[in-house]
Amino acid sequence: EPLVEIVCADGSRSADFIYDSCEIVEGAARARTLPTAYGNATTLILKLADKASKLKLLLYYTTFEECDVIARRSVLVNEGEEPVKIERLLSLSMDIPGRGYVISSFTGAWAREMHRDTIPLKAGKFVMESRCGVSSNRTNPFFIVSKPGTNESSGECLGFNLIYSGDHYEMCEVGTYNSTRIATGINPTGFEWTLGAGEEFESPQAVFTFSNSGYNLMSQRMHGFVKKHIVRGSWRDKQRPVLINNWEATYFDLSEKKLMALARRAAKLGIELFVMDDGWFGKRNDEKSSLGDWYVNKEKLPNGLSGLSDKINALGLDFGIWVEPEMISVDSDLYRAHPDWAMDVPGRDHSEGRNQRFLDLANDEVCDYIVEKMSGVFSSANITYVKWDMNRIFTDAYSKSLDPSRQGEVRHRYVLGLYRIMGELVRAFPDILFEGCASGGNRFDLGILSYFPQIWASDNTDALCRAQIQHGYSYGYPQSVVSAHISNCPNHQTLRSTPIETRFGVAAFGLLGYELNLCEISSDDAVKIKKQIELYKQFRQTFQFGKFYRSDSANIAAEYSIDRFGLSESQNIMQLTVVSEDAKEAVSGIIQDRSVANKKDLWIQIPGLDDDTLYNLANVKFESNIMDFGDLVNQATPFHVRQNSLIHRAISRFVKLPSETEEYTAYGSSLKNAGMKTAQGFSGTGFSEEVRHFPDYSGRLYLVRADEETDSNN
Ligand code: DGJ
Repeated sequence: EPLVEIVCADGSRSADFIYDSCEIVEGAARARTLPTAYGNATTLILKLADKASKLKLLLYYTTFEECDVIARRSVLVNEGEEPVKIERLLSLSMDIPGRGYVISSFTGAWAREMHRDTIPLKAGKFVMESRCGVSSNRTNPFFIVSKPGTNESSGECLGFNLIYSGDHYEMCEVGTYNSTRIATGINPTGFEWTLGAGEEFESPQAVFTFSNSGYNLMSQRMHGFVKKHIVRGSWRDKQRPVLINNWEATYFDLSEKKLMALARRAAKLGIELFVMDDGWFGKRNDEKSSLGDWYVNKEKLPNGLSGLSDKINALGLDFGIWVEPEMISVDSDLYRAHPDWAMDVPGRDHSEGRNQRFLDLANDEVCDYIVEKMSGVFSSANITYVKWDMNRIFTDAYSKSLDPSRQGEVRHRYVLGLYRIMGELVRAFPDILFEGCASGGNRFDLGILSYFPQIWASDNTDALCRAQIQHGYSYGYPQSVVSAHISNCPNHQTLRSTPIETRFGVAAFGLLGYELNLCEISSDDAVKIKKQIELYKQFRQTFQFGKFYRSDSANIAAEYSIDRFGLSESQNIMQLTVVSEDAKEAVSGIIQDRSVANKKDLWIQIPGLDDDTLYNLANVKFESNIMDFGDLVNQATPFHVRQNSLIHRAISRFVKLPSETEEYTAYGSSLKNAGMKTAQGFSGTGFSEEVRHFPDYSGRLYLVRADEETDSNN
């Protein structure tokens, strides 16, 4: 598998890059045209030369010592007099000794992002790629190569990622001898670049790290790297606000009245930021029109953006807004004025996606226009947050501003245009918190994170699906970049109902938000949400920036595995833990898929604690609804209660069942190694405070704090 493929002016395809010289420079030696990692680093530049073509290939190796990450990129320089055609220039190609590794890729689709697939590498090559113009939900550029048997806490593995948001390509090839080649970079399919005399072409930067203590250590190194060398700007280390987003509450049917009602309720519950999603501009009443017409719809918002934001601010909430600047609807004033700005192939029918087309970001004039338009919107009101959406993939990628011979450059030029736009806007609005989004996680990558400090991880807010999706992201991305909302039930993507405690227990391991009509929730849920927000704020630093641990399936008693329809044994309980930087506090959460009858020994270990510190551990208490127990209510009532009757519901309003109490004081070493045996799960044999009410889709949070008394004595 080659790193570079070129066609010289004479049609020859040979290249023989031989070592010429090298140089070591202090610092990250950042690229000119693409985002690259920054901060404390040292860079080795290897210079290779091809004598015949007068091409130079520069290989940049940048080491970020404190998080043990190495970045690699390639630059091709044409020192000859003739243009050459680049057919591929990958970022990294690395041979590791040995065969028989396993590869984990992170694949999916809309609402099913980041599912980890692990397969053994056999003779031949294995390719992961995106060809849809974005880093995509189909295959994320992050992947892992490990030795067989590696688990969360032991074994050797390498994690790789690419700082790029367009078509990417990752490849592992098992060699004919005893080695395995790993390569990553811009996808060569659909790519071609003419490099004129005296010009240079930069590849994106690839990054990788090694762990000899399993996946958790690899992830923690990647997390540290993303937090300190990718994410930048005033929000980098700042705690992120708890928000309410109106999308699933109103969809396009919004009005100032509805938004204000939602905001008033949100403020009472402790929410800090109000985000107005799609539907506020042009004639945008559905997804068929108006992208490009970034002026306020006065029928919906008679007082404009500033009128609305003033009222929201008066409630004590910050105000944020949704935009989708890279797109154009055919039914828009912008399209009517500039049909040439849409990316489509003249003379061919266009295949639409969500009834919209890409704007041609390979055209500088279009990029300038977007910067100007968005600057106008962002400064028209007191806007402190922007959700930057992008809701389709490339099909007919064609730039009417480029010569036909350069159409192979369009996809990469689009990404370059996007980076210029994002760069200019984040510089112009340094205090705005930008959140990337692409129908959820269709562009969740290190390129976007080099400008926007967080990304909406998935349109799927179902707690069970989200747990799996966030678990997938956590291999390569820290929780401080993963935005996660609690939505209504039945869930709008799966129609599944999950307890509000479980929904919180999942969203809290990311950047917490709510996305439901708070004006119509039950009073019980309102009380619970208020408490959730208080708890989240208390532990916010740890939830958002703490050290992140996934627990091995093997750590959860095997008894808790279930046999799905006799098909396969699969893990039934997921456990995630975050630990503060000083290890003085931790939060661990478990979430169960299906309830299993008559299981007693669920042991929970809390990783990451300090061995010699004494900790207090307590589960987060809540009250269960007796309706969940159906006609078992009759076991406790002196008279017969018909299930779901008025009387049953009336009782349920007044009689609540308290959850079990789990409270322990123990040294970190015991909690880490032995763990704690949780209370017995309900199994049809009576209910008390010693019994865990743990039906399908249940979750628990365990709060762990260093014992203050012993701590101060030390
Ligand atoms: C897709 C996003 O992922 C959603 O959260 C929402 O913003 C819609 N677009 C709005 O059109």
